[in-house]
Amino acid sequence: MNRFSVLPIADHVLENRLVVAPMASQTSTLDGKVTDKTLHHYANLAQSKAALVMVEYSFVALSGRSEPHQLGVHNNDCIEGITAIAKVIHQTGAKAGLQLTHCGGKAQLDVCPDLMAPSGITVPAYDRILPTPKMMSLNDILILKQQFVDAAKRVELAGFDFVELHCAHGYGLNQFLSPLTNQRDDQYGGCQRNRARLVVEIIKQIKLHTQLSIMVRVPGQDLYPQGLTQRQIVESCKYFIDAGVVILDVSSGIGGWNRPKERRGEGFLVEEAAYLKKAGLQACIIGVGGIETAAYIDMALENQWFDLAAVGRAILKGPKEFADSVMSVNSKALV
Ligand SMILES: Cc1cc2nc3c(=O)[nH]c(=O)nc-3n(C[C@H](O)[C@H](O)[C@H](O)COP(=O)(O)O)c2cc1C
Repeated sequence: MNRFSVLPIADHVLENRLVVAPMASQTSTLDGKVTDKTLHHYANLAQSKAALVMVEYSFVALSGRSEPHQLGVHNNDCIEGITAIAKVIHQTGAKAGLQLTHCGGKAQLDVCPDLMAPSGITVPAYDRILPTPKMMSLNDILILKQQFVDAAKRVELAGFDFVELHCAHGYGLNQFLSPLTNQRDDQYGGCQRNRARLVVEIIKQIKLHTQLSIMVRVPGQDLYPQGLTQRQIVESCKYFIDAGVVILDVSSGIGGWNRPKERRGEGFLVEEAAYLKKAGLQACIIGVGGIETAAYIDMALENQWFDLAAVGRAILKGPKEFADSVMSVNSKALV
């Protein structure tokens, strides 16, 4: 097996093992609409020859925005723009996926004045001090669930193949999963099954109402004291798979996606993916973190650390150059 091996998943066939990682482009209008710059950006990323191009974290409701110029899927006026994104990706033969997010308690008040989270606990972040959010009521949770499902329906109407729930990097759904930020004493807190309940309910509803293939971006662990452990993530992933998830995209948790201080080298987060792969979960596993060479991808596939390699910055730097150096048959793999 190597980076050119075909991978059938659900109703799709991925032509190789490369995925463009979701990356915020900050090219949308202030109300979250696609611009020409956004389309150009994705047409460019799709030149990487990746089999799957993920579209950046897109908010499901204005109350879940993380930053200005973030892409939105919060109302039907967004469908036209994201349809155009799916089209430019499909033109290269790649499959298209879009990542859905709600910031929960991870935003500044100027962007998100009514900050809400599973508990009224300030979300820890390595790079900033965040305001304390309001604790969500059961009705707030019901509304949030519906917002994710409605957004997924728009993603399907736009012609995407995959939708991904962003449950990593400390955002809203990560806050529900994590014992650090979820200290509820109702059916959404208390034990891992309860902390995973909201994500499971969203997955089931998306499966019921769309034909989309469902992915989740999970932390391999929170990488934060008293945060989610690898075992708790394995448990949560079992619930997600039972509910209908076909791909687990394994990244980091509370604190953000940046390279943890003690992690070095190419594939700095891949051991998180490898842990889930070893647990024998019945889903395809994506690994990420500083991947940039053909040799690394082929070695990781050979060692069964992951099924798919997601690459962010190395593709962002030059998609065409990346394709030439890593995804050409002449590019050097195992040496
Ligand atoms: C500019 C930029 C924007 C990002 N935006 C997102 C995002 O929208 N959603 C997400 O899950 N991760 C996001 N990430 C994290 C990447 O998906 C990826 O996990 C991270 O960059 C590590 O991979 P790399 O070392 O190949 O870049 C972003 C990273 C960068 C550099």
